[in-house]
Amino acid sequence: MRGRKKEMKIYVAKGSGFCFGVKRAMNMAFKYACENKKSDIYSLHEIIHNPIEVKRLEKAGAKHIENIKEIKKGSRAIISTHGVKPEEEAALKRKCADILDTTCPYVKKIHRITSRLAGEKYMIIIIGDRAHPEVVGIKGYAGADCKVVGTVKEAESVKTGNKTGIIAQTTLNAVKYREIVEVIMKRAFGKRYAEVRVYNTICDATRKIQAATVDVAIKSDILIVVGGKNSANTKRLYELGKERLDDVYYVENAKEIKKDWFKGKKKAGITAGASTPQESINAVIEKIEKIGAKI
Ligand code: F3S
Repeated sequence: MRGRKKEMKIYVAKGSGFCFGVKRAMNMAFKYACENKKSDIYSLHEIIHNPIEVKRLEKAGAKHIENIKEIKKGSRAIISTHGVKPEEEAALKRKCADILDTTCPYVKKIHRITSRLAGEKYMIIIIGDRAHPEVVGIKGYAGADCKVVGTVKEAESVKTGNKTGIIAQTTLNAVKYREIVEVIMKRAFGKRYAEVRVYNTICDATRKIQAATVDVAIKSDILIVVGGKNSANTKRLYELGKERLDDVYYVENAKEIKKDWFKGKKKAGITAGASTPQESINAVIEKIEKIGAKI
């Protein structure tokens, strides 16, 4: 429990903010930018899903781009925490003098599992958000037959193979994953001698912050979720909060917080995604403390 002004209590979910993979990637990228000040450096895709950190890295000298075509031949490139598909990595290698790969080791592990399954002729189903760069990258290792499933409804009609491998996006909610896997298992076992391999590839940091967010939501009467609007793991924290509370607000920074939200509230919860910097969390705490002292 954090500071207390008048009646407002503030609870911050344990594990809010940068996870291991994000800390590692940001440290690597800033060191790289600092050591190669004289080179053109491009950061392919957002290094993490947080606009403040993307801008900070740009200031340090690594320009954020979305398309390899924008890279000048012979320059340097950074691969984001979410990883890329093998063809994209190969194209970077052809074009760049040097590459810094900040892909989270847990995502790399999924790449290895997926490659192995594809090599053994498993039909791979990835459970996650098909537009998310992590899923796009994993799909690149999975072979042409791969399917991406985002909901139970989609799972009800997904094609399965005689050998099916199921993989989760690292930031998926574990309950949702189990529900979708059960539906796919039922479909697969309609086939005689069907084999299904399920991998729990949800990252531990995700599991812990999701549990901590539920704990905080239960004891609060308002929940503030802090993080980039395009951050998949922050979005899931918002959804989890919404399952338990009506008053849940998703903000990128403290400026978006409104005093009105706290009328009649005594216990404010705060949670933040894996790509949210500590400064943003601290600014939100300070703002709520100020509001709490006035209402
Ligand atoms: Fe890696 Fe898990 Fe963070 S996959 S980037 S440690 S949320």
